[in-house]
Amino acid sequence: MKAVPPQDLLDAAREAHAHAYAPYSGFHVGAALRADDGSVIQGSNVENGSYGLSRCAEQSAVQALATRGGRHFVELVVFTHSDPPSSPCGACRQVLYEFAPDATVYLVNERGTCLVRTVAELLPDGFRLDAPEGGA
Ligand code: THU
Repeated sequence: MKAVPPQDLLDAAREAHAHAYAPYSGFHVGAALRADDGSVIQGSNVENGSYGLSRCAEQSAVQALATRGGRHFVELVVFTHSDPPSSPCGACRQVLYEFAPDATVYLVNERGTCLVRTVAELLPDGFRLDAPEGGA
């Protein structure tokens, strides 16, 4: 059966893709996640002339989630023009894992190709720090 991403997240990820700032790579990535309270949060890749400071779209979305007080998300759409659809880099996988190993990730391109994974499938045996008591 053909996988279908949630339409509202796909629309939001497409919009974020259009807003990506990627003058150096020319590679636009748009992400949109659904927080536990149902809100949709976008992220796009934001590059920098000092290349190492560039930020991936998935990480931008998670930063925005945490900044709003969110600590978990349910699902995420990543939109690119890649074929097959682009998959989160290793660093993004660890950032996603921190908040939602159980979340569903839809990897989508403009041809409508859609791959579905959980975060834990993308990052088996992901790292988790045992926080000291009272840590938040
Ligand atoms: N990029 C993302 O936004 N997410 C990923 O998971 C992989 C790569 C961005 C970073 C950079 O701006 C561009 O894609 C090319 O690597």
